[in-house]
Amino acid sequence: MSATKTVPRHIAIIMDGNGRWAKQRGLPRIKGHEEGAKAVRECTEGCGELKVDFLTLYAFSAENWRRPKAEVFALMRLLEKFLKEKTPELLEKNVRLQAIGRLTDLPGSAQKQLHRSIEATAKNDGLTLILALSYGGRDEIIDGIKSLLRAVELGHIDKAMIDVEMFSKHLYTRYYPDPDLLIRTSGEMRLSNFLLWQTSYTELYVTPKLWPDFKKKDLAEAVEEFGRRQRRYGGV
Ligand code: FPP
Repeated sequence: MSATKTVPRHIAIIMDGNGRWAKQRGLPRIKGHEEGAKAVRECTEGCGELKVDFLTLYAFSAENWRRPKAEVFALMRLLEKFLKEKTPELLEKNVRLQAIGRLTDLPGSAQKQLHRSIEATAKNDGLTLILALSYGGRDEIIDGIKSLLRAVELGHIDKAMIDVEMFSKHLYTRYYPDPDLLIRTSGEMRLSNFLLWQTSYTELYVTPKLWPDFKKKDLAEAVEEFGRRQRRYGGV
């Protein structure tokens, strides 16, 4: 990709379709998630190569806890294994790992591994890979309101000072810019409670490809399409 093209600074992805991918092949759903983890690796590498600064992946939603226990357990094991195995590669590729969501909901061993990987990669200054885990957009807004109320009660801020910018500083995403491009795989036209506040002016890109089939060239296509969009932010 040439330097003159517009590359999104922050890409967010709803990685959908692992279950369908497995079903099409007569495989158990977890096989789809395992293949999805390979796509996570490929897409992270692709974003690094395209010089994207931030990549946020919807890896486990607040609602995903409602899935059968065995699938939830398998997803948590897969997350832990992925982090353990891929941390050396994240280090090698200069990727900084971060996470958003109600992380204390995760099983203890997954939390420990997550924090180990975050710490290990903290000094990297290439791509920031943000995993949304036990993440819900509405939960995040509620947590943000509680955090603001606490700051008001403690006298740190006056409620007359509350505006969009200040509220953004009380969200899980306080350290990151809003996504420029949101990609959703497997054709569904929904936000599914992902980054509700942050996507106000984000360009949406939906592809029928199932997540395990989403390759670097599909990422490049989405980025090219983004480059053709005119962003007006409500102006003319
Ligand atoms: C959606 O597919 C995907 C998920 C709920 C989980 C995403 C998990 C991964 C990509 C693998 C592990 C992630 C990491 C970071 C190691 P679905 O199960 O809803 O698919 P379906 O709609 O076709 O059933």
